[in-house]
Amino acid sequence: MGIAFTEKQKKGWEILTDSRKTRILFDGGSRSGKTLLLMEYLIARAFQFPGSRQLVARKHRAHVKQSIWNNTLKKYLAEFVPDETYSKSESELVVNFFNGSSIIAGGLDESERVEKILGNEYITVLLNEATQLSWNTVQMIITRLSQSVSDAHGRKGIPKLCMDCNPRSPRHWLYICGVMNRDPDSMKPLPDASKWARLSWSAYDNMRNLPEEYIKSLQSLPELMRARMLDGIWRSSEGSVYDEFNEDIHVVKPFEIPSAWKRTRAIDFGYTNPFVCLWGAIDNDGRLYIYREYYKSHVRTSTHAEKIREMTGDEHVSCTVADHDASERADLEAGGVSSENALKDVREGIQAVKNRLVVQGDGKARLFFFSGLNNVLSEMHDYMWQPQREGGNAKEEPVKENDHAMDALRYMVMSIDKKKKETRVASLEKVDNRWK
Ligand SMILES: Nc1ncnc2c1ncn2[C@@H]1O[C@H](COP(=O)(O)OP(=O)(O)OP(=O)(O)O)[C@@H](O)[C@H]1O
Ligand SMILES: [Mg+2]
Repeated sequence: MGIAFTEKQKKGWEILTDSRKTRILFDGGSRSGKTLLLMEYLIARAFQFPGSRQLVARKHRAHVKQSIWNNTLKKYLAEFVPDETYSKSESELVVNFFNGSSIIAGGLDESERVEKILGNEYITVLLNEATQLSWNTVQMIITRLSQSVSDAHGRKGIPKLCMDCNPRSPRHWLYICGVMNRDPDSMKPLPDASKWARLSWSAYDNMRNLPEEYIKSLQSLPELMRARMLDGIWRSSEGSVYDEFNEDIHVVKPFEIPSAWKRTRAIDFGYTNPFVCLWGAIDNDGRLYIYREYYKSHVRTSTHAEKIREMTGDEHVSCTVADHDASERADLEAGGVSSENALKDVREGIQAVKNRLVVQGDGKARLFFFSGLNNVLSEMHDYMWQPQREGGNAKEEPVKENDHAMDALRYMVMSIDKKKKETRVASLEKVDNRWK
């Protein structure tokens, strides 16, 4: 075994091997050497603690197989680890070592797989491209970091969670906990902040192992992508779908909502992706305030229904719209949350949201968010249009990523604005009838 570390990797290794640091984030530019170092660490842990299990997971199994298994782990083993010390199962994506240790590569995209993964205990977990996961998935996985193993000197291994990612918007939960060391739900300082460590990487850190053209191609990226992928900086996205969105205008300090305001909810279903419920309140001038969010993956709908009822408390909600999945809606209904079918036209919905974001003559927009709703606010920044295709028009379709709360938001705005239009038509029709 042996690899010539870059200077940045040497720093990373110090953090990984520091027994006080058990929550580690490597965030930064593309191909900066993060994952390779973490691979070395997983293998070192497998050797150091006989019988230990290391999990390397990301959101989709297909991506685990391609990027972790084929492109990184297998190559690394072939180059640096003696053949006779391990065997591997291609179908299971597991490496078994001579000392009873293993590295298990897994995707978190199906309930059966998640259950199987959660059915085990680990001494090391690496969440690759962790921005694609939700905070609540990470918390769930932390509960499985409980394997008790010792090294040859009888020293107990300290369970470690490692995460790597490319930066997104600084609203992302991973920035909040991994960089700001705050709890993404409450924004309070993390109680275990001293256990967290973070190292920021740039593609320049791995210059000597990258072709010159690669760095050049990163340098010629648009500004936002260059900041994120070359320099490794967490930056909000310009050119996003909601380019009118401005935190100074649209984010307000939470306040008590007057009881006379109409309240509404919108739901987007998800299991692997988060299930989202948003709560909105409409003031007397028709302005909509998103005042609460529920954002959770890997939980059954009946549990969501219970949680939504609990979070709603005794508030009177006049309307709940939801995505069209009949069985999910039936499960919600059985759990005491009845809903109407949402209006799902994507472009119309986006336009309706954009219209509300525009500042009106009175100096105010018509859509606001309570501060602290980090999931919906993070998506507002990261919701992107598809890049322009040759011969096609840009700005036709949004990228179907980071769009869970965005879908719920569209449903809510459409339900309000469409209803307003319908009421207006109905009243106009009445006027006509009087003439008949
Ligand atoms: N110390 C090293 N010696 C030789 N090659 C290295 C070294 N570190 C990294 N590399 C190579 O550099 C490339 C990028 O490394 P790696 O995949 O670890 O980067 P990353 O930061 O995880 O990138 P991404 O953000 O794109 O996932 C890989 O081809 C890897 O094999
Ligand atoms: Mg990587």
